[in-house]
Amino acid sequence: MVDADQRLIVTIDGPAGTGKSAVSHRLAAELGISCLDTGAMYRCVALMTMREGIDASDASLVTPAMDAHPIDFDWTQHPPMPRLDGEPVGEAIRSAEIGRVVSIVAAVPEIRGAMVQAQRRIAQTHPRLVSEGRDQGSVVFPDAEARFYLTADASIRAHRRARQLRATGHENVEEAEVLQAIEARDALDRSRKIGPLTCAPGAILIDTTEMGRQEVVERLAREVRAIVDGAVSGSC
Ligand code: DC
Repeated sequence: MVDADQRLIVTIDGPAGTGKSAVSHRLAAELGISCLDTGAMYRCVALMTMREGIDASDASLVTPAMDAHPIDFDWTQHPPMPRLDGEPVGEAIRSAEIGRVVSIVAAVPEIRGAMVQAQRRIAQTHPRLVSEGRDQGSVVFPDAEARFYLTADASIRAHRRARQLRATGHENVEEAEVLQAIEARDALDRSRKIGPLTCAPGAILIDTTEMGRQEVVERLAREVRAIVDGAVSGSC
């Protein structure tokens, strides 16, 4: 069984629209541990560059600005609420414009380096954590107790993302545009030199195309419990 004192880092990586966020929240609740949305951290950096009017691709401007405008989480909330300058960012980090700028931010090696350090520091104070992103199992926590890579057909991912955007007040969403944006973002995430989106060796690959969200959560929870109990299985 999952022991309450034991370190337990569970990483969930994969492209946009595989349901990583919702699955991470539910899995963390199911296991009774915290969760970390690392995409929200990159999105906060993108928001900060927009507010400050600085070029998101210029590390010499962005890294000092990151020091001046700290990003953290309110850990009293589930899921933990991302904050910039101590203020909750809410839906401001979910706009289409942030979606474009964040791709630029996420490709800057110096920004990625700072994020990796910040995520490892978080794991020191929250050693029982489901950490979700693109490089969590491959770069940030290659020694995590359980590492998952979720995937799904791009058209299904676009459908899910469009539904999620509509549910959060973006009513005029065109699914074809979402698909285009997803494919462009996947290509950038996969091709960048540092921390590319990849299924790390030893990670467990799960294709969610035909799975419901709860089904994915149950599968992951089963896998985590099996790993903690000593029956290990990787598929990448
Ligand atoms: O998961 P998301 O859509 O909120 O991620 C936002 C962007 O940040 C996306 O372009 C991928 C990038 N990202 C990343 O490069 N590394 C992470 N660990 C998390 C997100």
